[in-house]
Amino acid sequence: MRVLSGIQPTADSFHLGNYLGALRQWVLLQETHETYYMVVDLHAITVEQDPKVLRQRTRVSAAQLLALGVDPDRSALFVQSHVPEHAQLSWVLECQTGFGEASRMTQFKDKAARQGTEHASVGLFTYPILQAADILVYQANEVPVGEDQRQHLELSRNLAQRFNRRYGKTFTVPEPHIVKDTAKIYDLQDPAAKMSKSASSPNGLIELLEDPKRSAKKIRSAVTDTGREIAFDPEGKAGVSNLLTIHSALSGQSIPELEAAYEGKGYGDLKKDVAEVLVEFVTPFQDRVRSYLDDIAELDKVLARGAERARAVAAETLSLVYDRIGF
Ligand code: ADP
Ligand code: NA
Repeated sequence: MRVLSGIQPTADSFHLGNYLGALRQWVLLQETHETYYMVVDLHAITVEQDPKVLRQRTRVSAAQLLALGVDPDRSALFVQSHVPEHAQLSWVLECQTGFGEASRMTQFKDKAARQGTEHASVGLFTYPILQAADILVYQANEVPVGEDQRQHLELSRNLAQRFNRRYGKTFTVPEPHIVKDTAKIYDLQDPAAKMSKSASSPNGLIELLEDPKRSAKKIRSAVTDTGREIAFDPEGKAGVSNLLTIHSALSGQSIPELEAAYEGKGYGDLKKDVAEVLVEFVTPFQDRVRSYLDDIAELDKVLARGAERARAVAAETLSLVYDRIGF
């Protein structure tokens, strides 16, 4: 079974939510699936990017994926723009997509509303079609998806089915891969909101590449509540529950085990321990990232090999598609 996933190089560092909600599963899926993982720089330019910054972030993203355990011998790890078939298939699929259909994508509406529809790029509008091309060009069976991506996967499925109906069986129709053991992580300062790179307060966000001392400080000043009991209760004790989730995900101890261990102890004890498990995780991670970035030539070679592997599959699909449509 083939799996495809991507992440945007639009921040200086991945954050704890990216890791515990998505990237950890990328690593696990290598055990059971044929995996294709990419840094999606084509998607990144749907909003303006500084070229130097984009190039740097693309490499740092790849280094972080390697440091988290994406194994370039098991996975095809590559940069999206290195495989031109994504853009080529995307054009074909754009011509199969209704304008009304594309207009119903709620993520575009949200993002465009923030930027002003007049200024939002056409690329931002067609982004879900490029995403469909990303998936279909590898004939992926499964795509790990969070709630926010469901509508886009549905579009990919519709486009695959429509193309197959019009031109004969060409694409595998992808299924959502319901990821187990993913944790949704919340903002440390506002535990009602998800942790995000666009967080309102930098203290709510744990960046994997920031100084671990700074992360520890953020954990120690996380918002909790006026109670005393350490219990997992996302509604009533969102902050404490978030800390328990982070602890559990990083230490491997279950939530009930942790609740039992903290009986009679205070929030300060919990925060101290969460900070400690976090620092234990990020310190060697950062060392690994640094060593990948110390040898850019080697890193670029790894990515070139990944692109070559990806292209072998993508070119085969594109050639079939071109044949089907009469090119
Ligand atoms: P952000 O919300 O910071 O912009 P992205 O949208 O780039 O992050 O998300 C990249 C991946 O990380 C997606 O698979 C997304 O579901 C996951 N992710 C992002 N934030 C969180 C979070 N707070 N908890 C769990 N998973 C998250
Ligand atoms: Na986002």
